Amino acid sequence: MTAAADVHVRLVDRLEASGALTPGWRQAFLDVGRHGFLPDVFWASTGDGYERCDRAQSPGRWLELAYCDVAIVTQWDDGADSGQQREPTSSVSMPTMVASMLRDLDVHEGHRVWEGGTGPGWNAGLLARRQGAHNVVTVELDPEVAARAAANFRALDAAPTAVVGDAAHGYLPGAPYDRGILTCSVREVPPAVIGQIRRQGVLVLPFAPLFGGGAVARLTVADGAATGPFTGSSAFMRMRQQRYQAPPVDDYLPGDWPGDAAQEYTTLNPLEVVDDWLASFVVGLAVPDVYYRRSDGGGMTTLWLFDTGVTSWATVDFVDGARRFEVRQSGPRRMWSEVEESFQWWVGEGRPGFESFGLTVDGGEHRAWLHEPANPLPSPRGRG
Ligand SMILES: C[S@@+](CC[C@H](N)C(=O)[O-])C[C@H]1O[C@@H](n2cnc3c(N)ncnc32)[C@H](O)[C@@H]1O
Repeated sequence: MTAAADVHVRLVDRLEASGALTPGWRQAFLDVGRHGFLPDVFWASTGDGYERCDRAQSPGRWLELAYCDVAIVTQWDDGADSGQQREPTSSVSMPTMVASMLRDLDVHEGHRVWEGGTGPGWNAGLLARRQGAHNVVTVELDPEVAARAAANFRALDAAPTAVVGDAAHGYLPGAPYDRGILTCSVREVPPAVIGQIRRQGVLVLPFAPLFGGGAVARLTVADGAATGPFTGSSAFMRMRQQRYQAPPVDDYLPGDWPGDAAQEYTTLNPLEVVDDWLASFVVGLAVPDVYYRRSDGGGMTTLWLFDTGVTSWATVDFVDGARRFEVRQSGPRRMWSEVEESFQWWVGEGRPGFESFGLTVDGGEHRAWLHEPANPLPSPRGRG
């Protein structure tokens, strides 16, 4: 067995043993190698940071990373050649995530599948191998990323139809689809995507509220609406148009801090909320129009909360070892109170996990629920 075949088979075995890869996907994962979608230079998301790897300099390491269970970044900052790498904007996703989302998709023979967010094309290549080339359409917004995917597809026996365009519009010429899968995260599910899935069809997507956290949703489509459970944690790059462009702080607080905000105290450590992916996700589901920034300095971390309506702000100061933390809240909303109330509700429910929650999208409205659609998350009232 060659070195490539060896690491490849070992990854597939590990994915199957973990339950992420179902037996029906095994052959496609063996036939469509991940290294065929990787550029000569990439950045593997290992642990806390990114490991740059150049195939010419380290061919062994390059191959090893290709078959590690880590995401591999292939583009930064939408391809801007600034010399700085601020934000990863395209990648080959983590194998466990690819396998488990395909498991959630539950494809059957002959199903037509639409994918939004081609990236380098591994997921679409796997789908085309299993479903047949003519049954798979994939859409990528970034022309350079799409061009590289097209080159990768040329090496495959079964290549999907690859379209350069905005996944928020789905791809009407191929609709209706039996299955849809988004591989960039959204905080609002695009209506066109739901509209192009047939009745009782399935849409799998990473849902990431503005506040933080993220999870894969498996939605079943009927009568223009989509509803279903979250199946597990996820961390995907956002659909490009759904990145939030925050207004300047001056728009919220034109004068000096603390402005008109009264002083209060909380015993909840704000970092307990924002440093916990699940807690942030739950708060984000309950308070969908609030975001935060943190600033460190003077032995203190300040959490700033803002609403997208640009009406209110709040700050909470975390000081290590303190038993209560100073809060300031300004404007008609009491956002720290809303965040704290949502967090405490979640604690009171016994800290349910990602899989206990679900989402219904109907007429553009997004409703998160606990256990069943009839049990929506309570809307926090705040204390203001
Ligand atoms: C995580 S990567 C996709 C991973 C990939 N499907 C794989 O096989 O591993 C996310 C991709 O979504 C793309 N993207 C972001 N916004 C998009 C949009 N509105 N329409 C289509 N693609 C988009 C990005 O350019 C990026 O290439």
